Amino acid sequence: MSINQTDPLLIADVDAQAILKRFHPPKPDWFEKFFALFLAKCCGYYEGKVAGYKAEIFSRLKGRVNKVLELGIGSGPNLKYYAGDGDVHVYGIDPNEKMEKYAQEAAVAAGLPPTNFNFIQMVGEALPVSDASMDAVVGTLVLCSVQDVGLALQEVKRVLKPGGLFIFIEHVAAQDQTTLKFFQGILNPLQKIISDGCHLTRHTEKHISEAGFSDVDIKRAYLSFCFPVNPHIYGIARK
Ligand SMILES: C[S@@+](CC[C@H](N)C(=O)[O-])C[C@H]1O[C@@H](n2cnc3c(N)ncnc32)[C@H](O)[C@@H]1O
Repeated sequence: MSINQTDPLLIADVDAQAILKRFHPPKPDWFEKFFALFLAKCCGYYEGKVAGYKAEIFSRLKGRVNKVLELGIGSGPNLKYYAGDGDVHVYGIDPNEKMEKYAQEAAVAAGLPPTNFNFIQMVGEALPVSDASMDAVVGTLVLCSVQDVGLALQEVKRVLKPGGLFIFIEHVAAQDQTTLKFFQGILNPLQKIISDGCHLTRHTEKHISEAGFSDVDIKRAYLSFCFPVNPHIYGIARK
C-alpha cells in the first residue's frame, strides 16, 4: 500500500503497510468493522457529556486555522467543530480503514466540502505529512491507544507550524492508591483487547507536559458516568 496523493503536503513515498504492521498490526476484519460501527453509533451520550470541554478547546481554532490534522480520527466526531469555519482542510489519520466510511459521512454532515477532507490510513507514530505544514493537530481519546506515545507527540511537533496548536482530550490513569486506580489495573488487560489497544493506566498528561511544547495548558475533568475511563484531561499545547 502507498499513499497515492497529489497533495504537496502529503509524503507519498512511505511504506505504509510496513509502518501499519509495526505500530498497529492488522486485526481481524470483523473486529475493525465492529469497532468502527461502535464508535460511530454508540458514543453519542459520551459526546454530549464532553461537548462543553470540546467547545472550549475547539474555540481556540475558530477562524485561525486552515490545515488541521486529526490523530486517530475514528468516526469523525470532531468534524462538526469545524463547521462554518472558512476553508479548513482536515487530514484524518487512522490505522483502521473501516473508520473511513463513517468519517466521510461525518465530514459531509459537518458541511466540509469533499475536497477539504482526506482520510489517510496511517498511525500517529509516522504521520505522512510534511514538516511544519499544519496549523493545528487534534487528538481525542487517541494517545491512550497509540503504541508509542512519545513518538506520536514528536510527530505532532514535527508537523505543526511554529506556534501551531495541539488540542486534546484524553482519559488518563487515576491517582495512585485510589480504588479507581486499583480497578484500572485489573481491567487494563481486558480494555486493551476489547478497545483496540486502549490503555486505562497511561500518564498521558506527563507525556504531553514533557514533550517539549513551548506552552502547555492542561485541565482535568471527571465524567461520573464513565468509570473506569477517568479522569479526563483536556487542553492545548503550543509548538
Ligand atoms: C477510542 S478511538 C477515538 C476516536 C476518535 N478520536 C474519537 O474521539 O472518537 C481511538 C482511535 O485511535 C485509533 N488508533 C489506534 N492506534 C492508533 C495509532 N497508533 N495512531 C493513530 N490512531 C490510532 C483507532 O483506530 C481509533 O479510531
